[in-house]
Amino acid sequence: MLQKRVFSGIQPSGNLHIGNYIGAIKQWVAIQQDHDCFFCIVDLHAITVPQDPKILSEKIKELTALYIACGIDPKKSVIFVQSDNLDHPALAWILDCISSMGQLSRMTQYKTKSGKTKGQSSVGLFNYPVLMAADILLYQTDEVPVGEDQKQHVELARDLAEKFNSRFGEIFKVPEVKMFKIGARIMSLRDPSSKMSKSDKDAGGTIDLLDSAKDIVKKIKSATTDSGKEILFRPDKEAISNLLTIYSHFSGTEIKKLEQKYQGKDYKKFKEGLADVVTEGLEPIRKEYRRIRSDETYLSKVLKDGLRKAEEISGKTLEEVYKAVGLG
Ligand code: AMP
Ligand code: TRP
Repeated sequence: MLQKRVFSGIQPSGNLHIGNYIGAIKQWVAIQQDHDCFFCIVDLHAITVPQDPKILSEKIKELTALYIACGIDPKKSVIFVQSDNLDHPALAWILDCISSMGQLSRMTQYKTKSGKTKGQSSVGLFNYPVLMAADILLYQTDEVPVGEDQKQHVELARDLAEKFNSRFGEIFKVPEVKMFKIGARIMSLRDPSSKMSKSDKDAGGTIDLLDSAKDIVKKIKSATTDSGKEILFRPDKEAISNLLTIYSHFSGTEIKKLEQKYQGKDYKKFKEGLADVVTEGLEPIRKEYRRIRSDETYLSKVLKDGLRKAEEISGKTLEEVYKAVGLG
């Protein structure tokens, strides 16, 4: 039986945190067993905001090694770098030409990111979701596993696929978004009303996958809590609900069971338990990361093999697109 195709990606900017892990990578690891998966390092998306060239090229290797250290198996899944495959910007341009300025200016992420730059943000940042649609549509993707913040972008990819198909013929598969019910939006440890983010200036708000055990314990100890002292998953207990979500994902224990476990216990005990499961969960990833990152030959081979497999599929789609549009 033909397996369903999956595509997703992460930008090689900032440090990967447990929000990225729970919202995206953890789903990828599970899904790769019985899906045909493409996991991309989306460096062309990263340069929509200024990046230091030296740091960027290091971050591309870091993210590749982290994908593998987290459990993405290059024998099962295709791992490649977006800028290595020129089919992505080529399709993005064609999709740009059927996208409307109005729809793109309503994208929440664009409004948030450009809002801070007072008209100085790049055209690339505006077109960002179209490039993301190209990433997805080139592979005739069935499912896109992402965190909640990317849902609107996947919906745009669906709209563009339908628009293109109705104008030029049935070329693209219309993709579905795939999210965890709980954990699609991990919040900052310092401010539980805003999402955990790579660009958070306050390092105490995020737990990075490469943080030391000492730092993890410190960050969890100083995480914001709610008033009262019950450990319950409730809308009026934003901070504790977020910590329970993280606990549940790292321990594999249902939230209901955790509530029972900590009934009558205080926040201090709960945070100690949480720090234990998070440090235990991240330790093997950190170790594996160090081993893989030091093997440059292996990393280049993974990316080269991945690129070859990616181009095989994307090239075919792009050829059909060119023909349908009347190009070349
Ligand atoms: P980014 O950090 O924007 O490159 O996001 C990479 C992936 O992680 C995307 O699938 C995001 O939706 C997901 N992600 C980022 N931040 C969070 C978060 N705080 N909670 C859950 N998922 C997240
Ligand atoms: N925009 C996504 C993010 O920041 C990254 C991304 C780029 C992506 N292209 C993609 C995710 C295609 C899924 C599918 O998180």
